[in-house]
Amino acid sequence: MSSRHETGWDRAYHRYGPDCLPWELGRPREALVELVASGRVVPGRVLDLCCGAGTNPVYLAKKDFDVTTLDISEKAVEYAKEKARKAKVEINLLVASYLNLPVKSEEFDFAFDFGCFHHVQENSRTTFIEEVHNVLRPNSTFFLVCFSYENGPAWNHFRREEIEELFGDFFEITWIKHVSSLEGDGITRYFYEVMMKKYTYSSASSKELE
Ligand SMILES: C[S@@+](CC[C@H](N)C(=O)[O-])C[C@H]1O[C@@H](n2cnc3c(N)ncnc32)[C@H](O)[C@@H]1O
Repeated sequence: MSSRHETGWDRAYHRYGPDCLPWELGRPREALVELVASGRVVPGRVLDLCCGAGTNPVYLAKKDFDVTTLDISEKAVEYAKEKARKAKVEINLLVASYLNLPVKSEEFDFAFDFGCFHHVQENSRTTFIEEVHNVLRPNSTFFLVCFSYENGPAWNHFRREEIEELFGDFFEITWIKHVSSLEGDGITRYFYEVMMKKYTYSSASSKELE
C-alpha cells in the first residue's frame, strides 16, 4: 500500500517524531483519564481509532483494558509498538484505516477517537460513522473528541448541531462538552467531547419511524 507512506501523516511521524507533533502530549488525554477514574468506562475490549505514538492505548492497557488500536502511519505504529514494549503491555496494533476497520462486527465494548473524525473528508464521514457503529456491541459507547467552531471557520470545525446531526442516526448522544486544550505547540485549541451510546437495531429502527 504505497500511498500509506505518502500520506502527510506518515511523513510527519518520519520527519519530526512524536516530541515535535502538537497533538502528541506525551501523557494520556485528560478526558480519557477522567472516564477511567470515574468508572464511566470500565475494563473490557476497547478500540482506539488512531493511536499516533500510542500514549492513550498504552495507558489503557496498563489499566487492564484489552486494547486494539490502529493508525494509517506505519511510523506512528512503530512508535506505539516501542512504547508498549517499554511499558511491558500487550496491545493489538494495526496499520490500517479507520475507513475500513480490519476487525469483527460487534467486537468492542468501547471505542474512542481523539483527533481522527475531524480529519475525515466530508464524503467519507458516513463511512467512518458506520464503521465505528458496526464494530461496537449493542448499547456500548463511543467517545469522540473533535475540533469545534471556536477554532475559527473551517470545513472540519464543528458546531454542536452538526455533530448531533451526523451521529444522531447511529448513536444516542449522552452528553456533549465544549472544552479547550493547550496542545504541544503552545496553542490552545477548542474541542467537543461527545459521549454516545450505540443504538441497538430496535431503537434505531423505531427512530426511523418517528
Ligand atoms: C491528530 S492525530 C491524533 C493521534 C492520537 N489519537 C492522539 O490523540 O495523540 C491523528 C492521527 O490519525 C492518523 N490517521 C490519519 N488518517 C487515518 C486513517 N485514515 N486511518 C487511521 N489513522 C489515520 C494519523 O496518522 C495520526 O496519527
